[in-house]
Amino acid sequence: MKVLEAEFVKGFMRMADDGWLEGWHERNGGNLSYRIKAEEVESVREEFTPGEWKPIGTSVPVLAGEYFLVTGSGKYFRNVMIKPEDSFCIIELDVSGENYRIVWGLVNGGRPTSELPSHLMNHEVKVLATNGRHRVIYHAHPANTIALTFVLPLTDEAFTRELWEMATECPVVFPDGVGVVPWMVPGGRDIAVATSELMKKYDVAIWAHHGMFCSGEDFDLTFGLMHTVEKSAEILVKVLSMTNAKRQTITPDDFRHLAKDFNVTLPEKFLFEKE
Ligand code: 13P
Ligand code: ZN
Repeated sequence: MKVLEAEFVKGFMRMADDGWLEGWHERNGGNLSYRIKAEEVESVREEFTPGEWKPIGTSVPVLAGEYFLVTGSGKYFRNVMIKPEDSFCIIELDVSGENYRIVWGLVNGGRPTSELPSHLMNHEVKVLATNGRHRVIYHAHPANTIALTFVLPLTDEAFTRELWEMATECPVVFPDGVGVVPWMVPGGRDIAVATSELMKKYDVAIWAHHGMFCSGEDFDLTFGLMHTVEKSAEILVKVLSMTNAKRQTITPDDFRHLAKDFNVTLPEKFLFEKE
C-alpha cells in the first residue's frame, strides 16, 4: 500500500488539519508524532527508502526499532493536507534508541521537528506508563492556554484546579490533572526531560509562554484532550476578563461527588480550600 493511502496516515493528516483550523499552528508552530503499529509499518514498507542515521539528541532505549510518523521542522500544519510528502516523514529508530533515519517523506529535504527529543521521551514514558496504549504526542500553541501562563501561578495545582472549575467535563476528561513546565529554551533535551517527568503523572503538560503537549491513545482522544483543555482555558480567559472574583463555581465537595458518580479518582492535592 502507498503511505498516503493508509488509514493511520489519513488520521494523522486530518488531526494536523484540525489543529490548523483551530488556529493553534501559526507559521510552523506545533508538531505531531504517532508511534506506528507493527502491522501498519508492514503495510506501507514497500515505499520506504532509508536515509542516513542521525542522532536524536537524547536516548530512548525503550523505543529501539520503532517507527514514527512525525511532522518536519519548519513545516506548516497548514500545508499537511496539500503537500503531505513535503510536510512530514516516517522515521525509524536504531537498536540503541539514540539515532533515527528518515524512511519516507520530507521529499524536499529537512529533518523531523526540533521537538523530536520531547516527543520521543514522552512516547517512552507513556509506553511504560500505559503498557503501550498511548501512541500520539501532540504539541500546539493554543492562545488561551498560553495567555493563562502570564496570570496564573505556574504550578500543577493552580492550573489543574482552575481548568477543572471552568467546565464540568474537565475532571472527567483529565482526572490526573495537568503539569506545568516553567519557561525553558525549547527544542532540546532539557525541556524534553522536564516534560517527560510530568508525563509520568499527567497526559497534559503546559509550557509557560509557549504552548501545550498532550498524549493519548489515538488521534481523536489526543486532539479531544487538547481541545478540552484549550476550551476550558478560553472560558477562564473570558471570566478573568470580566472579573477577578467568581460569584460561584464548582467546589471541592462538588468535585468529590462528581468523582464518585463518574467513577474517576481526583487527587486531593487539587481539591484544596482556597483562601
Ligand atoms: P518545529 O517547526 O521544529 O516543529 O518547531 C515548532 C515548534 O512549535 C517548536 O516548539
Ligand atoms: Zn512550540
